[in-house]
Amino acid sequence: MPDKYAVIGNPVEHSLSPVIHAEFARATGQDIVYRSILAPLDGFSAAAFAFRDDGGKGLNVTLPFKHDAWHLAGVRSGFALAATAVNTLTFHGSEIIGDNTDGIGLVRDLTHNLRVRLRGQRVLLMGAGGASYGVVEPLLREQPDLMIVANRTLEKAITLVAHFERFQHYAPRGLAARSYEALAGEQFDLVINATSASLANAMPPLPAGIFAPGALAYDMVYAKRTPFMAFAQEQGARVSDGLGMLVEQAAESFFIWRGVYPETQAAIALLRRGMSR
Ligand code: ATR
Repeated sequence: MPDKYAVIGNPVEHSLSPVIHAEFARATGQDIVYRSILAPLDGFSAAAFAFRDDGGKGLNVTLPFKHDAWHLAGVRSGFALAATAVNTLTFHGSEIIGDNTDGIGLVRDLTHNLRVRLRGQRVLLMGAGGASYGVVEPLLREQPDLMIVANRTLEKAITLVAHFERFQHYAPRGLAARSYEALAGEQFDLVINATSASLANAMPPLPAGIFAPGALAYDMVYAKRTPFMAFAQEQGARVSDGLGMLVEQAAESFFIWRGVYPETQAAIALLRRGMSR
Protein backbone atom coordinates (compact mmCIF):
# COMPACT_ATOMS: atom_id res chain seq x y z
CA MET A 1 0.00 0.00 0.00
CA PRO A 2 1.34 3.45 -0.86
CA ASP A 3 2.21 5.79 2.03
CA LYS A 4 -0.28 8.60 2.53
CA TYR A 5 0.51 12.31 2.58
CA ALA A 6 -1.61 15.44 2.20
CA VAL A 7 -1.67 19.22 2.26
CA ILE A 8 -4.02 20.69 4.84
CA GLY A 9 -5.37 24.24 4.75
CA ASN A 10 -8.41 26.47 4.43
CA PRO A 11 -8.91 27.23 1.61
CA VAL A 12 -6.90 24.44 -0.02
CA GLU A 13 -8.61 23.64 -3.33
CA HIS A 14 -6.17 25.77 -5.36
CA SER A 15 -3.06 24.24 -3.76
CA LEU A 16 -0.51 23.00 -6.29
CA SER A 17 1.12 20.68 -3.73
CA PRO A 18 -0.71 17.51 -4.91
CA VAL A 19 0.55 18.08 -8.48
CA ILE A 20 4.09 18.82 -7.29
CA HIS A 21 4.33 15.77 -5.02
CA ALA A 22 2.80 13.50 -7.66
CA GLU A 23 5.53 14.67 -10.06
CA PHE A 24 8.25 14.10 -7.42
CA ALA A 25 6.88 10.60 -6.71
CA ARG A 26 6.80 9.77 -10.42
CA ALA A 27 10.32 11.05 -10.99
CA THR A 28 11.83 9.28 -7.97
CA GLY A 29 9.75 6.09 -8.18
CA GLN A 30 8.36 6.57 -4.66
CA ASP A 31 5.08 4.80 -3.89
CA ILE A 32 2.97 7.52 -2.25
CA VAL A 33 -0.48 9.07 -2.54
CA TYR A 34 -0.91 12.77 -1.83
CA ARG A 35 -4.22 14.59 -1.52
CA SER A 36 -5.59 17.84 -0.09
CA ILE A 37 -7.60 18.20 3.10
CA LEU A 38 -9.88 21.14 3.80
CA ALA A 39 -9.95 21.55 7.59
CA PRO A 40 -12.53 23.72 9.35
CA LEU A 41 -10.97 26.92 10.70
CA ASP A 42 -11.44 25.67 14.26
CA GLY A 43 -10.69 22.04 13.44
CA PHE A 44 -7.04 21.77 12.45
CA SER A 45 -5.86 19.38 15.20
CA ALA A 46 -8.87 17.09 14.82
CA ALA A 47 -8.31 16.84 11.05
CA ALA A 48 -4.56 16.25 11.47
CA PHE A 49 -5.13 13.50 14.07
CA ALA A 50 -7.84 11.87 11.95
CA PHE A 51 -5.40 11.75 9.02
CA ARG A 52 -2.67 10.25 11.20
CA ASP A 53 -5.04 7.69 12.73
CA ASP A 54 -5.97 6.67 9.19
CA GLY A 55 -2.32 5.83 8.52
CA GLY A 56 -1.19 9.21 7.20
CA LYS A 57 2.59 9.67 7.29
CA GLY A 58 2.96 13.39 6.84
CA LEU A 59 1.23 16.71 6.16
CA ASN A 60 2.15 19.90 4.43
CA VAL A 61 0.46 22.72 6.30
CA THR A 62 -0.68 25.89 4.60
CA LEU A 63 -2.62 28.99 5.64
CA PRO A 64 -4.00 29.60 8.17
CA PHE A 65 -2.70 26.63 10.17
CA LYS A 66 1.10 26.98 10.24
CA HIS A 67 1.10 28.27 13.80
CA ASP A 68 -1.39 25.59 14.93
CA ALA A 69 0.93 23.00 13.40
CA TRP A 70 3.79 24.49 15.40
CA HIS A 71 1.78 23.90 18.58
CA LEU A 72 0.84 20.38 17.51
CA ALA A 73 4.45 19.29 16.91
CA GLY A 74 6.13 17.60 19.88
CA VAL A 75 9.56 17.92 18.24
CA ARG A 76 10.51 20.99 16.20
CA SER A 77 13.44 21.62 13.85
CA GLY A 78 15.61 24.68 14.39
CA PHE A 79 14.04 26.62 11.51
CA ALA A 80 10.54 25.76 12.76
CA LEU A 81 11.42 26.86 16.29
CA ALA A 82 12.63 30.29 15.16
CA ALA A 83 9.85 30.77 12.62
CA THR A 84 7.16 29.84 15.19
CA ALA A 85 5.49 28.16 12.23
CA VAL A 86 5.47 24.64 10.81
CA ASN A 87 4.71 23.76 7.18
CA THR A 88 5.76 20.09 7.34
CA LEU A 89 4.51 17.54 9.86
CA THR A 90 5.86 14.00 10.02
CA PHE A 91 4.05 11.29 11.94
CA HIS A 92 6.52 8.83 13.34
CA GLY A 93 4.92 6.36 15.73
CA SER A 94 3.42 8.47 18.50
CA GLU A 95 5.80 11.34 17.70
CA ILE A 96 4.81 14.44 15.71
CA ILE A 97 7.78 16.20 14.15
CA GLY A 98 7.46 19.77 12.86
CA ASP A 99 9.70 21.35 10.24
CA ASN A 100 9.63 24.60 8.32
CA THR A 101 10.94 24.34 4.77
CA ASP A 102 9.65 27.70 3.46
CA GLY A 103 12.88 29.59 4.09
CA ILE A 104 15.10 26.85 2.65
CA GLY A 105 12.76 26.78 -0.36
CA LEU A 106 13.19 30.52 -0.90
CA VAL A 107 16.97 30.40 -0.47
CA ARG A 108 17.27 27.47 -2.86
CA ASP A 109 15.12 29.17 -5.49
CA LEU A 110 17.22 32.32 -5.19
CA THR A 111 20.63 30.65 -5.19
CA HIS A 112 20.12 27.59 -7.43
CA ASN A 113 17.36 28.57 -9.84
CA LEU A 114 17.84 32.34 -10.07
CA ARG A 115 21.61 32.26 -9.50
CA VAL A 116 21.56 35.02 -6.91
CA ARG A 117 24.53 35.23 -4.62
CA LEU A 118 23.12 36.33 -1.25
CA ARG A 119 26.41 36.77 0.55
CA GLY A 120 27.31 40.44 0.86
CA GLN A 121 24.04 41.63 -0.69
CA ARG A 122 21.70 44.31 0.64
CA VAL A 123 18.34 42.61 1.25
CA LEU A 124 14.99 44.30 1.81
CA LEU A 125 12.22 42.08 3.18
CA MET A 126 8.75 43.61 3.00
CA GLY A 127 6.16 42.45 5.52
CA ALA A 128 6.29 41.32 9.13
CA GLY A 129 3.65 38.58 9.14
CA GLY A 130 3.92 34.80 9.07
CA ALA A 131 5.44 34.70 5.58
CA SER A 132 8.38 36.82 6.76
CA TYR A 133 8.91 34.85 9.98
CA GLY A 134 9.30 31.72 7.86
CA VAL A 135 12.25 33.05 5.84
CA VAL A 136 14.32 35.39 8.04
CA GLU A 137 16.67 32.84 9.63
CA PRO A 138 17.57 30.92 6.44
CA LEU A 139 18.13 34.23 4.61
CA LEU A 140 20.39 35.59 7.35
CA ARG A 141 22.43 32.37 7.38
CA GLU A 142 23.41 33.17 3.78
CA GLN A 143 25.31 36.15 5.21
CA PRO A 144 23.86 39.11 3.35
CA ASP A 145 25.56 42.45 4.02
CA LEU A 146 22.42 43.63 5.80
CA MET A 147 18.73 42.85 5.96
CA ILE A 148 16.09 45.53 6.41
CA VAL A 149 12.54 44.54 7.30
CA ALA A 150 10.00 47.15 6.20
CA ASN A 151 6.40 47.11 7.31
CA ARG A 152 3.36 49.36 7.10
CA THR A 153 2.90 48.87 10.86
CA LEU A 154 6.44 49.62 12.02
CA GLU A 155 5.98 48.06 15.49
CA LYS A 156 5.48 44.65 13.91
CA ALA A 157 8.79 44.94 12.03
CA ILE A 158 10.51 45.99 15.28
CA THR A 159 9.04 42.95 17.06
CA LEU A 160 10.23 40.67 14.25
CA VAL A 161 13.75 42.09 14.35
CA ALA A 162 13.88 41.60 18.15
CA HIS A 163 12.65 38.03 17.73
CA PHE A 164 15.49 37.19 15.31
CA GLU A 165 18.17 39.21 17.11
CA ARG A 166 20.27 36.13 17.89
CA PHE A 167 20.75 35.49 14.16
CA GLN A 168 21.66 39.02 13.12
CA HIS A 169 25.40 38.44 13.53
CA TYR A 170 25.28 36.48 10.25
CA ALA A 171 24.88 39.83 8.44
CA PRO A 172 27.87 42.17 8.96
CA ARG A 173 25.61 45.25 8.97
CA GLY A 174 22.85 43.49 10.87
CA LEU A 175 19.07 43.23 10.78
CA ALA A 176 16.93 46.33 11.23
CA ALA A 177 13.33 47.53 10.98
CA ARG A 178 12.19 50.51 8.88
CA SER A 179 9.03 52.21 7.77
CA TYR A 180 8.54 52.47 4.00
CA GLU A 181 9.05 56.26 4.09
CA ALA A 182 12.44 55.78 5.77
CA LEU A 183 13.63 53.73 2.77
CA ALA A 184 13.87 56.79 0.53
CA GLY A 185 17.40 57.19 -0.80
CA GLU A 186 18.43 53.59 0.01
CA GLN A 187 19.16 50.89 -2.55
CA PHE A 188 18.92 47.10 -2.33
CA ASP A 189 20.21 44.19 -4.42
CA LEU A 190 17.31 41.94 -3.47
CA VAL A 191 13.79 43.07 -2.57
CA ILE A 192 11.43 40.35 -1.35
CA ASN A 193 7.70 40.88 -1.09
CA ALA A 194 6.41 38.76 1.80
CA THR A 195 3.33 40.94 2.36
CA SER A 196 -0.17 39.84 1.47
CA ALA A 197 -0.62 43.05 -0.59
CA SER A 198 -0.32 41.23 -3.94
CA LEU A 199 -3.35 39.09 -3.09
CA ALA A 200 -5.40 42.31 -2.94
CA ASN A 201 -3.76 43.60 -6.13
CA ALA A 202 -1.96 46.26 -4.11
CA MET A 203 1.69 46.88 -3.31
CA PRO A 204 3.64 48.28 -0.38
CA PRO A 205 4.46 52.02 -0.73
CA LEU A 206 8.00 51.57 -2.00
CA PRO A 207 9.91 54.69 -3.00
CA ALA A 208 11.26 54.92 -6.56
CA GLY A 209 14.95 54.21 -6.98
CA ILE A 210 14.97 51.42 -4.38
CA PHE A 211 16.54 48.87 -6.74
CA ALA A 212 20.31 48.84 -7.10
CA PRO A 213 21.63 48.15 -10.63
CA GLY A 214 21.10 44.43 -11.39
CA ALA A 215 18.69 44.00 -8.44
CA LEU A 216 16.17 41.18 -8.22
CA ALA A 217 12.56 41.82 -7.15
CA TYR A 218 11.04 38.62 -5.75
CA ASP A 219 7.33 38.25 -5.03
CA MET A 220 6.39 35.20 -2.95
CA VAL A 221 3.06 35.12 -4.75
CA TYR A 222 2.86 32.99 -7.88
CA ALA A 223 0.63 32.50 -10.89
CA LYS A 224 0.06 36.20 -11.40
CA ARG A 225 1.86 39.36 -12.34
CA THR A 226 1.56 41.53 -9.24
CA PRO A 227 1.67 45.33 -8.92
CA PHE A 228 5.05 44.94 -7.17
CA MET A 229 6.43 42.97 -10.11
CA ALA A 230 5.13 45.55 -12.58
CA PHE A 231 6.64 48.40 -10.53
CA ALA A 232 9.99 46.60 -10.26
CA GLN A 233 10.09 45.97 -14.00
CA GLU A 234 9.37 49.64 -14.73
CA GLN A 235 12.24 50.51 -12.39
CA GLY A 236 14.58 48.26 -14.38
CA ALA A 237 14.84 45.38 -11.89
CA ARG A 238 14.87 41.69 -12.71
CA VAL A 239 11.66 40.06 -11.50
CA SER A 240 10.58 36.66 -10.21
CA ASP A 241 7.40 35.23 -8.78
CA GLY A 242 7.39 32.63 -5.98
CA LEU A 243 6.66 29.49 -7.98
CA GLY A 244 10.22 28.21 -7.59
CA MET A 245 10.02 28.71 -3.82
CA LEU A 246 6.80 26.69 -3.73
CA VAL A 247 8.42 23.79 -5.57
CA GLU A 248 11.67 23.96 -3.59
CA GLN A 249 9.91 23.97 -0.18
CA ALA A 250 7.93 20.95 -1.39
CA ALA A 251 11.16 19.20 -2.43
CA GLU A 252 12.61 19.72 1.03
CA SER A 253 9.43 18.27 2.62
CA PHE A 254 9.61 15.31 0.22
CA PHE A 255 13.21 14.74 1.28
CA ILE A 256 12.30 14.88 4.99
CA TRP A 257 9.59 12.25 4.44
CA ARG A 258 11.20 9.96 1.86
CA GLY A 259 14.96 10.48 2.22
CA VAL A 260 15.20 11.14 -1.53
CA TYR A 261 15.80 14.59 -2.99
CA PRO A 262 13.66 15.14 -6.10
CA GLU A 263 14.86 17.08 -9.09
CA THR A 264 12.81 20.31 -9.15
CA GLN A 265 13.21 21.66 -12.69
CA ALA A 266 10.69 19.26 -14.22
CA ALA A 267 8.03 20.18 -11.63
CA ILE A 268 8.64 23.91 -12.12
CA ALA A 269 8.38 23.51 -15.92
CA LEU A 270 5.20 21.43 -15.55
CA LEU A 271 3.52 24.11 -13.42
CA ARG A 272 4.63 26.94 -15.71
CA ARG A 273 3.15 25.09 -18.69
CA GLY A 274 -0.11 24.58 -16.76
CA MET A 275 -0.27 28.28 -15.94
CA SER A 276 0.32 29.50 -19.45
CA ARG A 277 -2.62 27.47 -20.72
P1 ATR B 1 1.05 36.34 6.43
O1 ATR B 1 0.98 35.39 7.57
O2 ATR B 1 0.61 35.76 5.12
O3 ATR B 1 2.35 37.04 6.30
P2 ATR B 1 -0.23 38.47 7.88
O4 ATR B 1 0.32 38.00 9.18
O5 ATR B 1 -1.65 38.95 7.83
O6 ATR B 1 -0.11 37.40 6.74
O7 ATR B 1 0.73 39.63 7.36
C1 ATR B 1 0.47 40.30 6.19
C2 ATR B 1 1.62 41.28 5.96
O8 ATR B 1 1.35 41.99 4.75
C3 ATR B 1 1.78 42.32 7.05
O9 ATR B 1 3.14 42.64 7.17
C4 ATR B 1 0.99 43.50 6.47
O10 ATR B 1 1.37 44.76 6.96
P3 ATR B 1 0.75 45.30 8.37
O11 ATR B 1 1.46 44.54 9.44
O12 ATR B 1 1.06 46.73 8.38
O13 ATR B 1 -0.71 45.00 8.30
C5 ATR B 1 1.37 43.38 5.02
N1 ATR B 1 0.44 44.05 4.10
C6 ATR B 1 -0.79 43.64 3.72
N2 ATR B 1 -1.33 44.48 2.82
C7 ATR B 1 -0.40 45.45 2.60
C8 ATR B 1 -0.35 46.62 1.77
N3 ATR B 1 -1.37 46.95 0.95
N4 ATR B 1 0.77 47.37 1.82
C9 ATR B 1 1.80 47.05 2.62
N5 ATR B 1 1.81 45.96 3.43
C10 ATR B 1 0.72 45.17 3.43
